[in-house]
Amino acid sequence: MLILGIETSCDETAISIVEAKGGLDKPTFRVLSHIVHSQIKEHEEFGGVVPNIAKREHQKYLPIVLEKALEEAGIGGELSIMNHELWMEKNVDKSFPIDLIAVTVGPGLEPALWTGIEFAKDLSKKWQIPIVGANHMEGHIASVLLNKTEEMTNHKSQNPNSIIFPAVALLISGGHTELVRLDSWTKKEKIGQTLDDAVGEAYDKVARMLGLSYPGGPEISKLANEAREKGIEANFKFPRPMMHSKDLNFSFSGLKTAVLYYLRDREKKVAERTSGPDESRGGQESKVTFFSLELKQKVAYEFEEAVTEVLVSKTKKALEQTNAKTLIVGGGVIANKYLRLKLQTLGDECGVKTLIPEKMLTTDNATMIAATGYLQYVEQGANNADDLKANGNQSI
Ligand code: KG4
Ligand code: ZN
Repeated sequence: MLILGIETSCDETAISIVEAKGGLDKPTFRVLSHIVHSQIKEHEEFGGVVPNIAKREHQKYLPIVLEKALEEAGIGGELSIMNHELWMEKNVDKSFPIDLIAVTVGPGLEPALWTGIEFAKDLSKKWQIPIVGANHMEGHIASVLLNKTEEMTNHKSQNPNSIIFPAVALLISGGHTELVRLDSWTKKEKIGQTLDDAVGEAYDKVARMLGLSYPGGPEISKLANEAREKGIEANFKFPRPMMHSKDLNFSFSGLKTAVLYYLRDREKKVAERTSGPDESRGGQESKVTFFSLELKQKVAYEFEEAVTEVLVSKTKKALEQTNAKTLIVGGGVIANKYLRLKLQTLGDECGVKTLIPEKMLTTDNATMIAATGYLQYVEQGANNADDLKANGNQSI
């Protein structure tokens, strides 16, 4: 079946068209189009995503992105303005090309989610096709099913589920840090989560302290890699919060604060050396221009080491506790090269299969929404369009 996925939970306006088959035992996907319009430029000056700007941009770009997605899939741009009756009249030999709409209903920013939901409902009515409301975090899990090179798709005779589950999914994004146990593609239970900041949020906040642009993850990661390449090591240590706690929860706000205090302290020392002990150097903005490249590299390096150690250690605990056969990693932060390497190594050491999405599928997109929408549709059928509501805090 052909699925049109719609994603507007944050600052990406995304629509994809995906062919899906195989049911829950052997879900297989072919991506016909994958369009993502990023709003980063609109939010950059605010250092984070502004919900009402996100809503305005989604409203503006959804019809444009839809047009592009239909064209790229070879379905024909005219479909976006056609209703079902007109299609049937004009294309007597061709059945209606889209079978299902999957739209993100949560978690995310509610004003942003609503624009996607309303847009999807209108299409569903106009085209007279069923609709499902998809969970964004489940989408990040399903993104591993879209890897072209994935070995899973090579298990021709047997049901690959028997060798995949139980699995542990580590979800790391701008708004979430979660560990999930999976007994099938649709049977899930959250077994750990952050008690405060999400990993991506910590990356973004630390980047801001260093005067780097939004989103901060790629910027910090670049500096940390430069430090590794040059063999620069930090001569200070940041904490690894909750690394040794028995549970599977995380906490990143203390780490973020440790970075802030370290930078304040450094700044004070340099100010004392250059201007005398009582000289004040003004607000946050004047501080950030002050740090040398080497200091930024060291901070980024040590911060990334701390984050990585905590994530690897808690994920290891989760794999052991659940007797998992597979480690699945999803969410924007897994675009990070160093984390990809460390989690792949963890999987190898624990003797489990590690599934990480291809880079273009790590950050928010609608292909993963189409994929998770398919799994949900196969298991539960469609939703009533009028029942679909945005749920900013929707859990897995
Ligand atoms: O999943 P995502 O696209 O959006 C949410 O659902 O939140 O994740 C965005 C997050 C941002 O915090 C961004 O800084 C982070 O992913 N990110 C990274 C990298 N690329 C994106 N974090 C660390 N290293 C990266 N290379
Ligand atoms: Zn996301």
